[in-house]
Amino acid sequence: TVTRRLDYAPPAFWIDTVDLTFDLDPTKTRVLNKMTLRRNPDLAPQALRLDGDELNLARVLVNGQGTSFRMEGEQLVLESLPEGHEPFELEIFTTCNPEKNTKLMGLFLSGGAFFTQCEAEGFRRITYFIDRPDVMASYTVTLRADKAKYPVLLSNGNLVDEGELDGGRHFAKWQDPHKKPSYLFALVAGQLVAREQRIVSRSGKEHLLQVYVRPGDLDQTEHAMNSLIHSVLWDEARFGLPLDLERFMIVATSDFNAGAMENKGLNIFNTKYVLAKASTATDADFDAVESVIGHEYFHNWTGNRVTCRDWFQLSLKEGLTVFRDQEFSMDLASTPSARAVKRIENVIGLRSAQFPEDGGPMAHPVRPDEYLEIGNFYTSTVYEKGSEVVRMYQTLVGRDGFREGMDLYFQRHDGQAVTCDDFAQAMADANPASDLARLLPQFKRWYSQSGTPVVKAEGTYDPAARTYTLKLSQSCPPTPGQPVKEPFVIPVRLGLVAEDGRDLPLRLEQGSFAQVQGDPDGSRTYVLSDQQATLTFLDVDSEPVPSLMRGFSAPVKLDCNYTFEQLMRLLAKDSDPFNRWEAAQLLGLRTAIDAMSTPTAGETAAPARPLSEAYIAALRGVLRHPELDAAFKALVLSLPDDDYIAEQMSEVDPQRIHAVREAMKAQLVTDLRDDWEWAYDHYKDTGAYQPDPVSTGRRSLAGLALSALCQSAQATNEAIWPGKAYQRFKDAGNMTDRQNALNALLESGHELAARALERYYELFHTEALALDKWFALQVLAPDRGGNILPIVQKLIKHPDFSLRTPNRARSVLSTYCHRNLAGFHRRDGAGYNFWADRVIELDKLNPQVASRLARAMDQWARLAEPYRQAARTAIERVAAKTDLSNDVREVITRTLAVE
Ligand code: ARG
Ligand code: ZN
Repeated sequence: TVTRRLDYAPPAFWIDTVDLTFDLDPTKTRVLNKMTLRRNPDLAPQALRLDGDELNLARVLVNGQGTSFRMEGEQLVLESLPEGHEPFELEIFTTCNPEKNTKLMGLFLSGGAFFTQCEAEGFRRITYFIDRPDVMASYTVTLRADKAKYPVLLSNGNLVDEGELDGGRHFAKWQDPHKKPSYLFALVAGQLVAREQRIVSRSGKEHLLQVYVRPGDLDQTEHAMNSLIHSVLWDEARFGLPLDLERFMIVATSDFNAGAMENKGLNIFNTKYVLAKASTATDADFDAVESVIGHEYFHNWTGNRVTCRDWFQLSLKEGLTVFRDQEFSMDLASTPSARAVKRIENVIGLRSAQFPEDGGPMAHPVRPDEYLEIGNFYTSTVYEKGSEVVRMYQTLVGRDGFREGMDLYFQRHDGQAVTCDDFAQAMADANPASDLARLLPQFKRWYSQSGTPVVKAEGTYDPAARTYTLKLSQSCPPTPGQPVKEPFVIPVRLGLVAEDGRDLPLRLEQGSFAQVQGDPDGSRTYVLSDQQATLTFLDVDSEPVPSLMRGFSAPVKLDCNYTFEQLMRLLAKDSDPFNRWEAAQLLGLRTAIDAMSTPTAGETAAPARPLSEAYIAALRGVLRHPELDAAFKALVLSLPDDDYIAEQMSEVDPQRIHAVREAMKAQLVTDLRDDWEWAYDHYKDTGAYQPDPVSTGRRSLAGLALSALCQSAQATNEAIWPGKAYQRFKDAGNMTDRQNALNALLESGHELAARALERYYELFHTEALALDKWFALQVLAPDRGGNILPIVQKLIKHPDFSLRTPNRARSVLSTYCHRNLAGFHRRDGAGYNFWADRVIELDKLNPQVASRLARAMDQWARLAEPYRQAARTAIERVAAKTDLSNDVREVITRTLAVE
């Protein structure tokens, strides 16, 4: 049944304390749950309803006495409870079967150890409970298990007792000093070892930090520990938020649906975001570990100390915490250029996942209005668009104002379960003179209206009057359930770029800019809140190029009909690095779109040389630039990918898009052949491996260059580069260089790729995370005449493939269906059939992973024929199944509803 935001009602009972005792056993774990409850005095007396899911109920006692109860579906209902408002004791004894738990929600096994995942509604798979985030209780947990098999027993908070039991068993008792909602409960039991570090925080308190992994993995935890230490220090320094626990634990598991989970004091992580060593993890992996460790740690305040009243408020904690982890990574990156690179990477992520989501059948507001399955709303809209909304507060009130808003938020709400409105109000109240406070109700439309707004800009220069007039207007396309939108509050950070690249002084004839610190020199922020606005700039000596939405100041699409020359000026000279990169992207997009409408023989053929000489020359200028950082150069030199090009089209022809982009790439590769060689030689050596921004950037650019050289070699029959790439692959001192070399061979389609893959397998087949990459890289290679699907078919038969381990399943299935546009969207529809079979198969094991895979068809209605009809047939085949999970059912129903 559908849950609606406006149906929220407070719980009929409060739970004050929970005392859990676990007898851990793989097939039959016993759970004794003793709670103190009391009626919510604000509500009329009613029955107690406890959530459960796949539990075996053995006993229910109220104040030590047997009692009557009934089941309503999966809920346990108690009617005859003590009257009045006095607390009473409820004791429930259940068993569950962790070994059969392939959903990985609740209590499950991974590599012989016990783990839990409770967010959002997993606690009900462990015991009967009022499983909603506004019920906050004090937890005491006793774990009992075989000592040899499960020497380490962990739960939230502090260890208060431990000891031996009969029959080779032992126990540990944990007490969490903080009240928490059930979704933050966790336990871990198994053979684990920990890297430990004691730190003293600013306040002078000592804390024990621990990172638990399987015994062989300890050498891969240094980066995680360093990231954790940085996180603790950063949250204290930037937000005055200290670690509130004596002990903070992180535990890694190789079977996990999500990236990680912020359980109070006991974060549980997918190994992918903990383990990192130079020989098996890439620079991107090191960065991801840093940001996810930060993310989960920052939840300790934004999520745990102040939590969500109900799951519609999910972005309250997720949007805010993504914002915080992005700021953390930017602050650690330290140089302005490295910060800009992080910002560009975040925006690439938003555009590749969130923009399509906002334009497709699953479009929903940052604060959704309804759901069938909440697991489907851990989306890039809630996370990444939510973080952009939080960033706009900071843009509107300034960095100091934002800090004051955060302070007020914690003053008011520490220990509470609250809503997005509470956060917005605290930000506005702390900054009463701001545009945010003035426009608060309108600003909050960012939470209620879905869809990506479009800002249209048109500039005219009047040389006689020395004025420049900029007309801005906003609109937002209809989305499912929301045909008409009201205007948003859009901070437009802008500058006017003169011919020599200088930012012109910004003097408005009337109206004003936002009164905040934080705009870099030459930039000001105009707050667009009307549907249209006209800005007239005075004393403008020569025709400028407007540089708009600098730093991506709002999550919108900019529609400005720049001339080619104007974009070239921005690319060469804009003081805002984000817009410099953006100009290159726009030039690339425009080339692709023009080439797409140029008639050619056959629909997959593409014009031979789509890129203009001037654009090529500009890219050469960036590549050879004496001052720009390598990381930035690599971003500018990377063409927009197939999916981003597809995002711009009203009708999507995947094979044609791929052919056009390949033609662009082929030209970029051959025309800059000597420049790539120069770049490769210049950047290829980075010395002893360090995952810092400078050497990461060098490796990234060297990798791009090597790939280009291998491809141009294929085109010109030069044998030397594939050989060099193979050599580099063999000799590489770190996984980034090794993977880039392998990728260069795969992308060029050279026969040495097969040899490299074999060798890779020999080297890494015992390292799960490196093996995931081995699977994914083969699936990610450019499709050549439909060769990827047969590769995928073969890989899922490989003895190391498994549908049960989410990381492995995703390394082939999500990579294929979500990330290889041309490989997946075949004219014969075979990719779609494959998708339907896998969704159905996976749904029986793990609905959450299955419903993510189901999302690969989001864009089907925009496809050209014959893709569209083939896609619909496959989706309908899944829809016809009568036993789908709610997770997949919701996605498939919404997908078919668009037409
Ligand atoms: N709260 C976790 C995080 O963002 C993710 C939990 C994922 N849960 C889910 N049902 N998908 O850090
Ligand atoms: Zn989170």
